[in-house]
Amino acid sequence: MTDTKKETENHRLSVADLRPLTGAGKKLYVETYGCQMNVGDSEILIAIMQREGYRYTEDIAQADVILVNTCSIRDNAEQRIWGRLREFHRYKKARKGLIVGIVGCMAERLREELLERESIVDIVAGPDSYRDMPRLVALAASGAHGVNVQLSEEETYGEIRPVRLDKNGVSAFVAIMRGCNNFCSYCVVPYTRGRERSRDPQTILREVTELFEAGYREVTLLGQNVNSYRWEHDGQTVTFPDLMERVAAVSPLLRVRFATSHPKDLSDRLLEVMAARPNICRAIHLPAQSGSDRLLKAMNRKYTREWYLGRVAAIRHALPDCAITTDLIAGFCGETEEDHAQTLSLMREVGYDSAYMFKYSMRPGTQADRHMTDDVPEEEKVRRLNEIIALQNDLSLASNRRDVGKRFEVLVEGPSRRSGEQLCGRTSQNKMVVFDAREGIAAGDYVTVRITDCTSATLLGEVVAE
Ligand code: 5AD
Ligand code: SF4
Repeated sequence: MTDTKKETENHRLSVADLRPLTGAGKKLYVETYGCQMNVGDSEILIAIMQREGYRYTEDIAQADVILVNTCSIRDNAEQRIWGRLREFHRYKKARKGLIVGIVGCMAERLREELLERESIVDIVAGPDSYRDMPRLVALAASGAHGVNVQLSEEETYGEIRPVRLDKNGVSAFVAIMRGCNNFCSYCVVPYTRGRERSRDPQTILREVTELFEAGYREVTLLGQNVNSYRWEHDGQTVTFPDLMERVAAVSPLLRVRFATSHPKDLSDRLLEVMAARPNICRAIHLPAQSGSDRLLKAMNRKYTREWYLGRVAAIRHALPDCAITTDLIAGFCGETEEDHAQTLSLMREVGYDSAYMFKYSMRPGTQADRHMTDDVPEEEKVRRLNEIIALQNDLSLASNRRDVGKRFEVLVEGPSRRSGEQLCGRTSQNKMVVFDAREGIAAGDYVTVRITDCTSATLLGEVVAE
């Protein structure tokens, strides 16, 4: 039996409520787009619905209710989802009584449009209204629209035990905060996810402990800007480094990761805590977005290139074996060839181990939309993005080549995608390693692997005795 199924049972059994449950065994299908935060939200949403008597299904043909958890970060994400909603709309005509809802960022951003377009959906629910979902579904079942796009300053879904959707049972994501206050000028997140708020550390620790007891060996603490995590209660304050210390203390066998760090808030104290705890992984995701001071200012990132490089130096000093990864945007408003060259030079200077790279996509309602011009021609954006990607491929390959011949502790995640005779897992630096399976090695084990070869995306190796 998978852990998901086990948890599913537990959730149903723990319902000590004698009211008739609105779900009454109806089947819920959830499709998730976008970031890990969205995956975590779907897990919370399913838990809420199960408490009300709905049953989760991975088979869309069985579904009585379809919920699409959406992403607004770039226009192409939204276009894909529109396409999917149109498919569901056709599907609905063939299946009487089927309820379709859109939830998450796009629901928050496009509430009116979604309802106007000939009721393409029955439910529109923003990221802070998932507790209200059983009522919204009931409304939709009675022929009305179920709509709730209220954002909250407090909602963290703190005490809800998410239903795990991951398949490996080894590595899980745990949301520690929601929303964002940074208002980077290109970004829609503060508008779709609302203000920043931190989750009660007790509930985080309980969730992590339960995961460890269920066999998980790695947790990634998630937030838009985890470094500004702050819990104040009864005169006590818990900051992000404090939280990391506590989570890492759950077990030395539990790996702890986190994402994402805004460079302006990455503190020396966090680096000290990491250095003192070997089970906090040697990997920091530090989105630079651009290497040009002029652009960083226009993006409202609140740091300079020099300051960013200072943080990189601090990481290298405190944690010499730490991987550094980043996010980069090509073709933001007003970006010149010189600005672009600065981004390439920053990449070389830092020598990123890997990166997520994007073409700028204007988002309605953001500062950039209101006060700047999306003036880099499409083909220029594409050319610059391709240059960034090509350079990163070289940097990733160089980084992987430096690992050849070294030994790493690898947490086994399961069979490799390419071959059933091989296993895969990650190093502390978050690099994927593929190696031949051996009798007695299973998902969740730690093994020592000597790296024998690599591509720009993967390390190849062999299991060795300690
Ligand atoms: N266009 C392109 N990329 C964006 N990102 C955020 N907003 C936009 C946008 N409008 C990228 C940033 C961020 C990552 C999650 O998505 O690099 O760090
Ligand atoms: Fe968006 Fe900036 Fe907040 Fe990240 S820190 S979610 S890029 S506004």
